[in-house]
Amino acid sequence: MNHFLDINKTDPAELRKIIDTARSMKEARNGYLRGKHDDDLPLKDHIVALIFEKPSTRTRVSFDVGVRQMGGQTMVLSGKEMQLGHGETIADTARVLSRYVDLIMIRTFEEQTLLELAEYADVPVINGLTDRTHPCQIMADILTFEEHRGPIAGKKVVWSGDGNNVFASFAHAAGQFGFDLTFTGPESLDPEMEFVTQARAKGSNVVIERDPVKAMQGADLVVTDTWVSMHDPQSARERRHNQLRGYQVNDELMSHAKPDALFMHCLPAHRDEEATSAVMDGPHSVIFDEAENRLHAQKAVMRWCLGV
Ligand code: CP
Ligand code: NVA
Repeated sequence: MNHFLDINKTDPAELRKIIDTARSMKEARNGYLRGKHDDDLPLKDHIVALIFEKPSTRTRVSFDVGVRQMGGQTMVLSGKEMQLGHGETIADTARVLSRYVDLIMIRTFEEQTLLELAEYADVPVINGLTDRTHPCQIMADILTFEEHRGPIAGKKVVWSGDGNNVFASFAHAAGQFGFDLTFTGPESLDPEMEFVTQARAKGSNVVIERDPVKAMQGADLVVTDTWVSMHDPQSARERRHNQLRGYQVNDELMSHAKPDALFMHCLPAHRDEEATSAVMDGPHSVIFDEAENRLHAQKAVMRWCLGV
């Protein structure tokens, strides 16, 4: 079963195939974004369940549109409104949904929920974000980087801020796609070491550097994300802001990266907190290409899952 649970769980050659498919499907649309179905409809007769236990704009809309462009149908479900949110087990939910739909995408809190769903489902399951990882986002980011700058292998990616779920999927990707990754942020917000050691074991040069200016040296890509994620307690907000202020991506910090460095943010952003509007709307930024590429990358992920 081709579940898409995490970037480190999918073979590098398969990941490359997914990126290539995304790129060729995007090109085949010949610049059309909206209102056009793909020429072939690989998801015809397929129904996809999209389950959200957390808010979403990009993931929700891009999956829904992606399925429709490929001729399939979707069902967007809120976790709270399902029996899942009222005590039904994940295993039973997985077995029931497998009798109705062809593919399940879930955005949830605990990674365990995703893993259990995949264990008991008879149809492929896609990770649409958990507290720990966000693999679809980073597939879109790789596609975006390579469209602008060519192969990401051997490049240096710098993450400034919180060592969160999006960073974790970057670490998975560093190992699988062969790029180097520097984390810069306060020690208290370091990523889980497991992500770092895994990437290192696959040959990626993963560095933890407290000084953001030093971290930027030679950066081909600078990335940040919100300082407070959906699963973080709001009570942590003020403390995190104090800890992370020095890691804001602004013009001064970007000036220490390579002159042609790209800037990415998965969005939603808190403008002028983790990154300034000057950077987000400036010449290095590719944030809206990144958002668009969620659509193209996920279409390819779904095709890979379904083998169509
Ligand atoms: N980047 C991302 O996953 O955005 P949403 O939370 O809007 O889906
Ligand atoms: N780290 C963020 C990503 C949102 C797409 C969160 O988990 O809230």
